[in-house]
This record gives sequence, structure tokens and C-alpha cells, in this order.
Amino acid sequence: MRKPLLLLVTLLALAPLALADGAADYGKFCASCHGATGQGTQGVFPPIANWAGQFVKADEGRAYLSHVLVFGLQGQISALGKTYNGFMPPFAQLSNEQVAAILNYALSEWNKDLLPKDFKPFTADEVAKYRAKALSPADVHKERAEVAKKLGLK
Ligand code: HEC
Repeated sequence: MRKPLLLLVTLLALAPLALADGAADYGKFCASCHGATGQGTQGVFPPIANWAGQFVKADEGRAYLSHVLVFGLQGQISALGKTYNGFMPPFAQLSNEQVAAILNYALSEWNKDLLPKDFKPFTADEVAKYRAKALSPADVHKERAEVAKKLGLK
């Protein structure tokens, strides 16, 4: 008699984790352009691996990464010395939990060497705070220029 109840309780406890599976969501929403391991495609889709981790060195960069996912990005950028001038569509349908989980996955999986020692994983609350500022893909591009300048990214 007890076992089904225990199973139910376990499933309910795991449900929030299942809702925000960064690896699965990366595969579903991001890998088609940025590649299965975040490597990108030179000149077309910028890399996330061994690159995006640099942005979290500043709070503005944490805001920027969250904004790229939620609001998209449009305008010329350079990443690892290569130029990109494309358009990333907004993924406004992602929940704050999903955005946090995808970023945490991409950063911890492929950017270990670039993360500051005191790196704190993104939380849904943090993403909610950044999301409150409604931006266009072009606004996010302006934000990136400021962050890249501050951090000296090329
Ligand atoms: C349809 C293709 C496409 C998809 C899907 C996509 N992106 Fe992008 N992404 C791009 C393009 C193109 C750019 C560069 C835009 C530009 O040149 O302004 C970009 C830029 C970025 C950047 C900024 C890199 C930098 O150096 O500033 C990050 C981070 C990023 N994408 C992460 C993601 C994540 C995470 C997902 C999944 C939620 C995702 N992207 C889904 C095409 C895509």
C-alpha cells in the first residue's frame, strides 16, 4: 500500500528538476545553431564554449547573458577574434528556471577555466530581475558593446 505513495512523492519531488534540465533544454533550443558542445560555427554562430564564461566576471555580463537568451541579439560582434553579424531570435518562452539552468549548464560544462573562483550559479530569481528590463535584440547588442569594453573582450 505504501509503495505507490512513496513513488508519487518521489516523482513530485523530482518534477521541478525535470522542468529545468539545462542539458536537455540546451539540446532542444540552442544546439541547432551553437553546436552540441557549444563550439559554434566560425563566422556564422559564435561559440559559447571557452568564451561565454568571461561575461560572468561582471554583474553587467551576467545580465547580458540572461538578456541574450530572453531578448535575442542583433548586430556585429566579435568572439575569439572572429566577426559575426547575425541575428539570434529571442527565447521569451523559456522560464526563468530554464534560462538559469541552460546558462549554468553551458558555463559549468564548457567554460570551467574562464569562470571566476567565486562563480555563483544563476538562479531563477536573478534571471527574473534581469528580465524585468524589456529590451530589443538591438538594445542587447548595445549592452554587449559596453560589457565587452569593460571586460576587454576581443
Ligand atoms: C537560430 C540560431 C540560434 C539559436 C537557436 C540560438 N542562438 Fe545564440 N546566437 C545566434 C547568433 C547568430 C548569435 C550572434 C548574433 C549577432 O551576431 O549579433 C548568437 C549569440 C549568442 C550568444 C552571445 C555570444 C557573445 O559572444 O556575446 C550567446 C551567449 C548565445 N547566443 C547563447 C545561446 C543559447 C544558450 C541558446 C539557446 C537558448 C541560443 N543561443 C540559441 C544564433 C542562435
